[in-house]
Amino acid sequence: MPVTILAIESSCDDTSVAIIRDGYVLSNLIANQDVHMSYGGVVPELASRAHQANIVPVTQQALLKAGLQANDVNAVAFTRGPGLLGSLLVGTSFAKGFALAQNVPLIEVNHLQAHVLAHFILEKDKENRVPSFPFLCLLVSGGHTRIIIMRSQLEMEVIGNTIDDAAGEAFDKCGKVMGFTYPAGPIIDKLAKEGNIHAFKFAKPRIKGLDFSFSGLKTSFLYFLRDRLKEDPDFIEKNKADLCASLQYTIISILVGKMVNASQQTGISEIGIAGGVSANSGLREEMKKEAEKRKWNLFIPEFRFTTDNAAMIGITGYYKYLRGEFSSHDVTPLARY
Ligand code: KG4
Ligand code: ZN
Repeated sequence: MPVTILAIESSCDDTSVAIIRDGYVLSNLIANQDVHMSYGGVVPELASRAHQANIVPVTQQALLKAGLQANDVNAVAFTRGPGLLGSLLVGTSFAKGFALAQNVPLIEVNHLQAHVLAHFILEKDKENRVPSFPFLCLLVSGGHTRIIIMRSQLEMEVIGNTIDDAAGEAFDKCGKVMGFTYPAGPIIDKLAKEGNIHAFKFAKPRIKGLDFSFSGLKTSFLYFLRDRLKEDPDFIEKNKADLCASLQYTIISILVGKMVNASQQTGISEIGIAGGVSANSGLREEMKKEAEKRKWNLFIPEFRFTTDNAAMIGITGYYKYLRGEFSSHDVTPLARY
């Protein structure tokens, strides 16, 4: 009998539903919320309302695309946290209702663990290279920046963490200063391709060990622009590409530098990146260069599995299902997991 997991992700501003069967993704639908763009960040109240509107049609579409019906589902996996409480509540309540109606188990999933497990999503008619253990993964998203050692699909150890902002926040906040809409990461990525990475120099933080800090970079970027704008009000407009390239280069060097140290310290050369920022083309390129130089066995997820998606929740749910790790219906969402 195949194991079919219906997976729900609603931790932030995207409503996503996926169907995973025996580790293979059959469908993975994402409804993006454009309502937040002009606010420079996600507005929690608007996000939960949009989740409420989207969750039923997105689930119907996910089942349809997979060619399955509600009663083909063996378990419902959902994001318990971390994330926005109101958003998580919509996904959690829906998952409970679905599980109750179909009389199948409920499986809570940690969103961060799921980002890392995205490396194990299988696709039909693909090569499906998956990491072996121990696996060293850089998790870079809008809310987190961590270096993780994975010893099995469900055993993870955090060996590096940000002491303030996440890398994604550095992209988004610096982008906001330049007048970009939210999320600014993909916009900076695109503009950076036309710019010079050495045009401007931004100080890199000196943080001991494998930890990160990005709040200083954000502040120095802000002050730098404030000074230049005094001399020339069109400074940003005239230097957009160079600003993006230099800023992105600084963030990437911090991230890649720590991964090099982490690999040296742990002796692990099975290496990966995960989370929304791992969609960044500059980071992908730099990691590939290092991998070649240092003989790493490098894993970079498909673009659609890097930013928030339910397929990663489904694959985590699948491994928890195999271990019989189910949740009770008393389970409540957690803003911090
Ligand atoms: O993992 P994710 O989708 O959501 C969280 O769990 O936070 O990550 C979202 C973050 C945002 O900060 C966004 O700006 C960033 O990922 N991001 C990127 C790119 N695509 C998304 N940052 C840099 N370059 C990109 N191409
Ligand atoms: Zn995420």
